[in-house]
Amino acid sequence: MPGPVRLVVCINARAGAGRRSCIGSGSLDQIDRIDDMISGAGLDIPILRRECPGRCEQGPTRRIAPGGPFFTETDATGLKLIVAGPKQFIDRRNGTDA
Ligand code: FES
Repeated sequence: MPGPVRLVVCINARAGAGRRSCIGSGSLDQIDRIDDMISGAGLDIPILRRECPGRCEQGPTRRIAPGGPFFTETDATGLKLIVAGPKQFIDRRNGTDA
């Protein structure tokens, strides 16, 4: 049985001029908003703050765990996808998706 579903958010800051990182791309700035959107959708999905899954150039990087898709969107439409992602992942995992 796979573990509980979580949303993992990269909060890494890479040192060095010109090196893109998730902190610099606004990952921390959006955590509270994403958490509020998840709660507002009636979901109980914890957000884990972790460092660098290696997609620094695409960040801010978020991933549904365990083993779910990555999300790097930052606009309002993208954030809605991030919030919908865990529910779709759970439904797919449980075989309850339509
Ligand atoms: S800094 Fe976030 S994926 Fe590397």
